[in-house]
Amino acid sequence: MTVADKRNRACAKLLADVHAITATEGITPSTLHALKLKLVALAGKAALFPPADFAMPLAEGRNHPLLVEDNDGHGLYLAISLPGKEAAPHDHGIWCVNASVSGRERHRFFRRTDDLSRPGHATVEQVGEVMLAPGTGMAMADHDIHSTEVVGDDPAVSLALYGYALARFPSVAWYHPRFGSVRTSPSRRHAAMA
Ligand SMILES: [Fe+2]
Repeated sequence: MTVADKRNRACAKLLADVHAITATEGITPSTLHALKLKLVALAGKAALFPPADFAMPLAEGRNHPLLVEDNDGHGLYLAISLPGKEAAPHDHGIWCVNASVSGRERHRFFRRTDDLSRPGHATVEQVGEVMLAPGTGMAMADHDIHSTEVVGDDPAVSLALYGYALARFPSVAWYHPRFGSVRTSPSRRHAAMA
C-alpha cells in the first residue's frame, strides 16, 4: 500500500469516527474536544503526511484537500502556512478543529463585546491563546473567533477539519480590534443549494 493509500484510509477512518461521535451527541463543547483529540492522533502520524506529497504555497498559505465529503458534509484539509503569515481575528460561522503536524502557529481567541447594534462596528477582547505545535490542537464552535500567526522560521503544517467544505463556507466575519470594525466575506452557502 502506498503512503497515499494509507493516508486516504486513515482520513476515511477519522471521518467515520467523527460521525460515530456526532450522530448521537451532535456538535457540543464535549464532542468538539473529542474530535480534536482524534485529529491530534492522526496528525501525530507524520509518516502519513510527507512534505513531498504537499506542494508549498507560493505565498502565505495553501489548503490541500484530504477528504471532502459529498453534499453538505465535512471537509478535511492539510493546511500549510508560511513563516510570517497572519490572520486577523475572524469567525468562520462553522465549527472547526485543528491539529499540528509540524511547525508552530499561535492562535488567539476572542469574544465579541459590543451589542451588535451598529452595522460594521464590533469590539472584541482576547480570552485565550494556544500555541499549535506537534501534539496539540484546538477546537472552535460555530461562532468562536480566532486569529493566527505563524511563529518561527518554519512553515506551520496542520490538519483542519471544518463542519462544511471550504467551497461551501458560510460568510466569514473579520474583526479589526484597533478600529472597532467588522466586515464579512460573501457566503458560499448558495453552492449547497445548487
Ligand atoms: Fe480561521
